[in-house]
Amino acid sequence: MKNIDVMIDAATLQDRVLELGAQITRDYAGREPTLVAIMKGAVFFLADLARAIDLPVCIELMGVSSYQGGESTGEVRITHDVSAPMRGRHLLVVEDIIDTGLTMKFLLENLQARHPASLKVCALIEKKTATANKVAIDYRGFVIDDRFVVGYGLDYGEKYRNLHFIGVLK
Ligand code: IMP
Ligand code: MG
Repeated sequence: MKNIDVMIDAATLQDRVLELGAQITRDYAGREPTLVAIMKGAVFFLADLARAIDLPVCIELMGVSSYQGGESTGEVRITHDVSAPMRGRHLLVVEDIIDTGLTMKFLLENLQARHPASLKVCALIEKKTATANKVAIDYRGFVIDDRFVVGYGLDYGEKYRNLHFIGVLK
């Protein structure tokens, strides 16, 4: 697309997802992780990551929306919840991108309250953003500068999610 500069090409993405999957396979050997993907952006990453993990996995989806700026001070709301109890499970939250960390901080507090056996984070992209909500990322695909990116699940006004690469709008 001529209005988008490629930042991370498709082959680089796929290679890194395979590496993350291999790492998760080693770390969770003998266990059955539940991948909790955050809609809608992480769905593309989830589909590739899950197939790169050589273990039995369960898949769950959560939807959240965050209100930032204006009157609200970053309130996060659940728009779609998981389909089963999370108690006693090994949860791995799968997210497309962590910017301020506000969304992930909320999600981790919410999921921790359900008493999982363990709770970790796998984010495809971490932005170098100065933030008060730093969360520990256990599996990180890429670290990028603070630019607005689209593709491979990430949208601008619900568009560009279906790009094979991560790019920057010109
Ligand atoms: P945070 O709560 O500030 O960490 O924001 C995380 C959410 O904002 C992500 O799940 C994305 O939905 C969205 N987001 C943040 N940065 C970008 C971007 O560069 N492109 C597309 N969506 C983004
Ligand atoms: Mg998102």
